Amino acid sequence: MDLKGKTVVVTGANGGIGTALVKGLLDKGVAKVYAAARSIEAVIELKHRDNERVVPLRLDVTHADSVAAIAEQCRDVDLLINNAGVNRCMWFMGPTGMESAREEMEVNFFGTLAMCRAFAPVLAARGGAIVNVCSIIGLVNLPVNGTYCASKAAGHSLLQGVRAELAPRGVQVIGVYPGPVDTRMTAGQEMPKSTPDQVAAAILAGIENNEEDIFPDPMSQAVHGKLVQDPKQVEKEFAAMIPV
Ligand SMILES: NC(=O)c1ccc[n+]([C@@H]2O[C@H](COP(=O)([O-])OP(=O)(O)OC[C@H]3O[C@@H](n4cnc5c(N)ncnc54)[C@H](OP(=O)(O)O)[C@@H]3O)[C@@H](O)[C@H]2O)c1
Repeated sequence: MDLKGKTVVVTGANGGIGTALVKGLLDKGVAKVYAAARSIEAVIELKHRDNERVVPLRLDVTHADSVAAIAEQCRDVDLLINNAGVNRCMWFMGPTGMESAREEMEVNFFGTLAMCRAFAPVLAARGGAIVNVCSIIGLVNLPVNGTYCASKAAGHSLLQGVRAELAPRGVQVIGVYPGPVDTRMTAGQEMPKSTPDQVAAAILAGIENNEEDIFPDPMSQAVHGKLVQDPKQVEKEFAAMIPV
């Protein structure tokens, strides 16, 4: 997809990757970006960056009314980027294993599903595309973030199903599988991380190159390469990282 002149919705626009995506889209010459966030105040800085092209919108992907309202407001969208997500950094047997799993499924799976369903008609009418930000640890479980990984694995399956369902309606569905990125989500976790700007640039390049699955950083590319070769070995290596 050529991004120039397009109209785009970015969810979680006030977060690390979401904010970097909005900035990157403006640099690519999009006509308009709906910067969707739970709080309008959180995206005012993006509005100040480009008053003409940035439209802040309130969105909580877990509220049906909120999802319906944004779909109604954005009848001119060519590209939906489902970036909003949560990671409670919890393991299945941990103190909040049940609550964290439910909350992560609500946002990462059900929220993304609701957005895909709400925007499918307009995207089909315009020959548009959906980008879902999944995770490389949705393809193999990292037990210390076990509940999050399960929600992202569900997100991966959602992506495949939506891709198959919307292909005949002319909607391209793209998956993004980042490794660790230096955002609020990974604050305090000591490990090599890519920057949000690097990851956003790789995502936008992948969209422009019509890639179906985007591995936007060296860590995700390395893990994906190993998963293709020997998935059981990767599972064992990730299992060995559990500190509990
Ligand atoms: N950072 C990583 O290492 C990494 C790796 C792989 C994939 N990802 C994925 O990348 C995406 C962006 O994450 P990030 O790293 O940029 O983290 P982040 O800075 O924490 O951003 C997450 C964004 O999602 C929003 N959000 C959370 N719950 C929401 C809801 N119910 N409705 C609407 N928005 C909601 C947050 O808004 P609030 O500010 O209101 O909470 C925030 O804007 C997520 O899907 C994440 O799972 C991240």
